[in-house]
Amino acid sequence: MNTFAERLQGCFQFSMNGGKPPASDSPEITALSVYSYWLASKAPLGVELPGRGYPDVPQPAKGYDLAGGAEVYKGQCAVCHGTEGEGQKVGDSYVMPPLWGKDSYNWGAGMHRINTAASFIKHNMPLGKGGSLTDQQAWDVAAYVNRHERPQDPRLVEGSVEKTRVKFHANDGVNLYGQTVDGVLIGQGIR
Ligand code: HEC
Repeated sequence: MNTFAERLQGCFQFSMNGGKPPASDSPEITALSVYSYWLASKAPLGVELPGRGYPDVPQPAKGYDLAGGAEVYKGQCAVCHGTEGEGQKVGDSYVMPPLWGKDSYNWGAGMHRINTAASFIKHNMPLGKGGSLTDQQAWDVAAYVNRHERPQDPRLVEGSVEKTRVKFHANDGVNLYGQTVDGVLIGQGIR
């Protein structure tokens, strides 16, 4: 069982691949906790709050296609996220986030699930043109992005991708962690 502060700290560890979350009694974690408490106790019920989440995009009947995803990526994503998924920096700071490689979200982040990424992408990407991809394109490009290597899952079990897959990824939506694609084991992390 996790405390609420620990759950919030996990978002820094996994989604941001930062490794160093603010302390559980820091002003940042306190502010996020207070905001969550407000959401749970004071936000109006039965009303869609503006900006809240995004609806699920179900997997298309034909599944997803990595080659189709590569085409979508090249045509509509690489201009910002880079041909190698490396993102773009101004000075030391990223202005376009990397989607794979050493500085991207890691294998423990929710975004590594193809279903989660497909839904996020369908509603928000390409930036400023959310909703323009078909469900099929969103799934294809999400799978293409998430077949690439990224930093290891910080919960790695005994150094083993297989054990980590069984414990954390086997029942975690649609994802490629610990699976073999074109003869290559996915989820080895960045060394
Ligand atoms: C005009 C530039 C632009 C284009 C084109 C674009 N993106 Fe993005 N993308 C961004 C920016 C900026 C962010 C960060 C948004 C934020 O933090 O609110 C982002 C965020 C993301 C994220 C979340 C990354 C993370 O670390 O959580 C994913 C996944 C993503 N984009 C995928 C795509 C895909 C797939 C396409 C092509 C269909 C695409 N983007 C096209 C600018 C772009």
